[in-house]
Amino acid sequence: MIQTSFTRLVGASAPIQLAAMPGICTPDLVAAVSDAGGLGMLGAPMMSASMLEATLEWLSKKTRGVFGVNFLMPFLDPECVPIAARRARVVEFFYGEPDPGLVERARAFGARVSWQVGSLPEALAAERAGCDFVVVQGTEAGGHVRGETSLLPLLSEVLDRVRVPVVAAGGVATARSLAAVLACGCGAARVGTRFAVAAESGAHPSYVKALLAASAADTCLTEAFSVLWPNAPHRVLRSAIAAAEALTDDVIGEELYAGQVFPVQRFSVSPPTTGTTGHIDAMALYAGESVSNVSSVQPAAAIVAELVEGAERLLRDAALA
Ligand SMILES: Cc1cc2nc3c(=O)[nH]c(=O)nc-3n(C[C@H](O)[C@H](O)[C@H](O)COP(=O)(O)O)c2cc1C
Repeated sequence: MIQTSFTRLVGASAPIQLAAMPGICTPDLVAAVSDAGGLGMLGAPMMSASMLEATLEWLSKKTRGVFGVNFLMPFLDPECVPIAARRARVVEFFYGEPDPGLVERARAFGARVSWQVGSLPEALAAERAGCDFVVVQGTEAGGHVRGETSLLPLLSEVLDRVRVPVVAAGGVATARSLAAVLACGCGAARVGTRFAVAAESGAHPSYVKALLAASAADTCLTEAFSVLWPNAPHRVLRSAIAAAEALTDDVIGEELYAGQVFPVQRFSVSPPTTGTTGHIDAMALYAGESVSNVSSVQPAAAIVAELVEGAERLLRDAALA
């Protein structure tokens, strides 16, 4: 398989990082991506320190591959950082100013540290803060979106200025798009929406069905799903906003998260998972523009193999041209 600055740094054999998607990245999905040679990522906002520790212990036994833990800064529990850094190859942060103290804390326990960023100044700040790699997110991305620039213009700026490996996020769901970001100098692609429909995904079956039927034009950037996390733009299926607007109840369902049942408020930030009941179509159906390239449910290993083998072929053909 293709070896890059990223695969060498984290010890993966495929230049693919699973995007951390809380509730959707089940431990089985994380392990499947890790086993397939990618970097599996666990998203753990609001997970207790003991549950995080138990999940990471399960993962270490389940897979021989590499995995990481992603922390969303607005929900950060500092107690969880050393637990993640001791047991995971990568500790990663998103949605906040890169913090040198936090990076140092995670590195001190032996983890590689990364920050997902949405602009050149933020990428430079992440490098200055001591990150081992940066994830550059374009506005095509599904879920919460940090910046205001689409992927290729942003990558061109960042790749010229940043020396640590760069991972591209947003719109990568095919061998062609993986080949494109590798050819321009990235060490890997971070893939979210495509893995949300993987066989091991925890996404609710109706959410998966909606993703399979949708295309890029059915997504939009919005701040609509702001309960629990206000003022944070995110890309969702437009139909979910209309469905939530059509309801009047404050509570539109229930969800099982980190072992506990919670009410789902209308316009809550939580996406529907297999443990959610209620008005699924009116919940946060996060989707990137890459949803156009998502058309079937496949095991995560098949997705990794398709992307990597296809990208290898395309890059080889391009080199011969
Ligand atoms: C359902 C969903 C949940 C997400 N949750 C997180 C998260 O908790 N932390 C994070 O760093 N990124 C999160 N993201 C954003 C991804 O890291 C990544 O930027 C995005 O998925 C890339 O675009 P793509 O969906 O087109 O592959 C999420 C994305 C999706 C689709």
